Amino acid sequence: MQIHDAAFLASNTRLDACPPPTLPEYAFIGRSNVGKSSLINMLTGQKALAKTSSTPGKTQLINHFLINKNWYLVDLPGYGYAKVSKVARAQWGKMINFYLRNRENLTCLFVLLDSRLPPQAVDLEFMEMLGTQGVPFVMVFTKADKQSATRTRQLIDAYLEKMSAIWDELPRHFITSAESKEGREEILGFIGEINQQ
Ligand code: GTP
Ligand code: MG
Repeated sequence: MQIHDAAFLASNTRLDACPPPTLPEYAFIGRSNVGKSSLINMLTGQKALAKTSSTPGKTQLINHFLINKNWYLVDLPGYGYAKVSKVARAQWGKMINFYLRNRENLTCLFVLLDSRLPPQAVDLEFMEMLGTQGVPFVMVFTKADKQSATRTRQLIDAYLEKMSAIWDELPRHFITSAESKEGREEILGFIGEINQQ
């Protein structure tokens, strides 16, 4: 699939204010600073469509983009940022849980993980919760340009091994870089295939 049209639609804190759930929706989530907004810009080929920042916690809203006029892409706020207050964290949890449970057109959630890090408890717990709630998701290992392909593979294999203790069937995974555009064709191909079903 090629993206020939990408437009920002709206930012919301409330699900009922989000665009009508009439098109397939693909949402991006992960720890603060993992590279969600950068990946969205890389996929859409628009440098500043989603706001990126070196300060974690930049994305605080549910941000909807309309792609090719026939599917939604969503940039969700990051979790696990230590400097966020307890109240803000609880608010995040409430908003995201409500979104994940009730967004009827959510087709697949992309869970972003920093390819340089060993398995993180906060990510494993988050994915376990997704499994419990039956939210369809795939894993995306980001920032692969920051280390050798061999190192990335080692860390991902360690991750998958840890996951296999919890999961009978491992979720699909992608390796990406917003710098080199690695993983772009694979992710767009994946979305294109589902949209055609
Ligand atoms: P929040 O919205 O704060 O949760 O962050 P985010 O997950 O949207 O991360 P964002 O895309 O803003 O990127 C955070 C930082 O990582 C920025 O300084 C990016 O330039 C950098 N970054 C993101 N992806 C990559 C990548 O693939 N390679 C490299 N080298 N840097 C990246
Ligand atoms: Mg962001």
